[in-house]
Amino acid sequence: MESQPNLLTAAEHLQDRTLDLRRRLHRRPELGLQLPETQAAIMSELADLELDLRTGSSVSSVIGVLEGAHPGPTFLLRGDMDALPLTEDTGLDFSSEIPGAMHACGHDTHVAMLAGAARLLAGRRAEIAGRVLFMFQPGEEGFHGARFMLEEGLLTTVADAPVSGAFALHISSTFASGTVHTRGGPFLASEDRIEIVVTGRGGHASAPHHANDPIPAACEIALALQTMVTRRVDVFDPAVVTIGTIAAGTTHNVIPPTATLRGTMRTLSATSRAAVREHVRRIAEGIAVAHGLEVHVELTAGYPVTVNDDTMATTVRDVASHLLDSERVPLMNFPIMGAEDWSYVLEKVPGAMAFLGACPPGLEPENAAPNHSNLVIFDEAALPTGVATYAAVALDALSPLS
Ligand code: NI
Repeated sequence: MESQPNLLTAAEHLQDRTLDLRRRLHRRPELGLQLPETQAAIMSELADLELDLRTGSSVSSVIGVLEGAHPGPTFLLRGDMDALPLTEDTGLDFSSEIPGAMHACGHDTHVAMLAGAARLLAGRRAEIAGRVLFMFQPGEEGFHGARFMLEEGLLTTVADAPVSGAFALHISSTFASGTVHTRGGPFLASEDRIEIVVTGRGGHASAPHHANDPIPAACEIALALQTMVTRRVDVFDPAVVTIGTIAAGTTHNVIPPTATLRGTMRTLSATSRAAVREHVRRIAEGIAVAHGLEVHVELTAGYPVTVNDDTMATTVRDVASHLLDSERVPLMNFPIMGAEDWSYVLEKVPGAMAFLGACPPGLEPENAAPNHSNLVIFDEAALPTGVATYAAVALDALSPLS
């Protein structure tokens, strides 16, 4: 790991280039699985490097393959590419030029950092036994982009050289700038969308016995789901169930025929996920039946739990601690209940994800506008740390000595 302090310096020397790409992407955010401008920017940024570049067929992904000087395994680094459907209000001079689209989750920084890491690693082929696969992925924000890339053969991009390890960074405005956070085991939660439609019979608000009011039952369901979380779920394998909307009725003196609840559920294991899905359905159906109402429960599967490989997470912490001061690599005690489609890759390959802190200067992390906010700002001074961490993790995994 002797070369790693130099990696940080090298990443700092690349900063103008990293910022230029990041800000160009930030101005032109694209949503979903088809991101032609972003894809073109990545292709042109990598064009002068000795990479074998491929683009996706069903989605606008980019895969770059960097062959090392020595034989060895394949290691995958990933950066997601897509933005979110909201209008930016940061006032930054490189703010989004597209109303209703903003890089509010920092995926523009992920692309720029991964491109920077590709440049650093392309200059260090002699230190690489094996090859690095650079995965530029669209459609992370709910579009299952990683799954599409897996279905297109991501892990067998290089025949007879399967991927033996994988690493991804995610920037966060609510961690101190330049810090790296990871942990073994569950890192992010699974996500499922809940929709419950309770159907009764509408009528006059003064004569509820002539109608069948879905509203009290809908309220009962919302409350019973919280009781379920504390009474049916192991506190050491936790779950979150949040009902985010309740919609029913049109005015004060009419009983509506239906009431609709919408929410999300998060868990940290496949076991708990299956159990909570079952509980949500049973509670909604049971309460509806108890009141003589009909109910339709729809659970839409989102991303699985993101589970970091213990060994890889330890390696990432060691590598980052060598690269940075060890106080910039604090122990991450608990997972976060957000969800990520990186989970699909980690279901197939032992790997890890880490957060890169980028709280803007002058703010405390707890006061900074968080990822997904129309006001979120990431401290660009953290980007060289990300570039160097990506590169250092790959070099460590593909060291000719290991
Ligand atoms: Ni994100």
